Amino acid sequence: FPALLAALAFGYLLGSIPFGLLLTRAAGMGDIRAIGSGNIGATNVLRTGSKKLAAATLLLDALKATAAVLIAARFGPQAALIAGIGAFLGHIFPVWLGFKGGKGVATFLGLLLGLYWPAFLVFALTWLAMAYAFRFSSLAALVASLVAPAFLIALAKLPGLQALLPLPFGSALQMGVATLAVAAAIWAKHHENIAKLMAGTESRIGEKSAAEA
Ligand code: G3P
Repeated sequence: FPALLAALAFGYLLGSIPFGLLLTRAAGMGDIRAIGSGNIGATNVLRTGSKKLAAATLLLDALKATAAVLIAARFGPQAALIAGIGAFLGHIFPVWLGFKGGKGVATFLGLLLGLYWPAFLVFALTWLAMAYAFRFSSLAALVASLVAPAFLIALAKLPGLQALLPLPFGSALQMGVATLAVAAAIWAKHHENIAKLMAGTESRIGEKSAAEA
């Protein structure tokens, strides 16, 4: 049990590093929270006009969760899963920013990459297809965040496929339930985006936010 608590704290600390905020500040762009949607994630960093910084934010916000999983895996599969969840919680509730963090999409992606690459692939392909079709980052994330747990829960009933694509950490059902909880948190964090999508005022990828345009 102390090992699991340590894994949670370790993941949390790694996840709480707000790369979008740090990179844009280092580039002399001021506070990203005063731009566009006010979010610290890659989608909002893209609204500064810098594709490079947006890509770096996406990569680093994702890889901090992947790193948390893979480092904690030395202490067993449960520690890996818990450290990954910790990183996700650190990103959306960072102590350094008064617990007002990001929306968790990149960090969820990195969590899936560390835990089970087929689920990462399902998430990434769903996001890309949705983004290509509708050009809303938020909508793509909302849909992909549900499709990934649905894939894992379906996998629990498909032993043949599991034999082909073995899960390194925990069972498919356990991962499905854990990622469903992560998806619920992502949906909750997107309440403003959901309201804007329904009102037709959500900004499309690469555009300034509707409020600014
Ligand atoms: O990854 C976050 C994205 O889904 C929404 O970001 O800045 O448009 O609220 P934003």
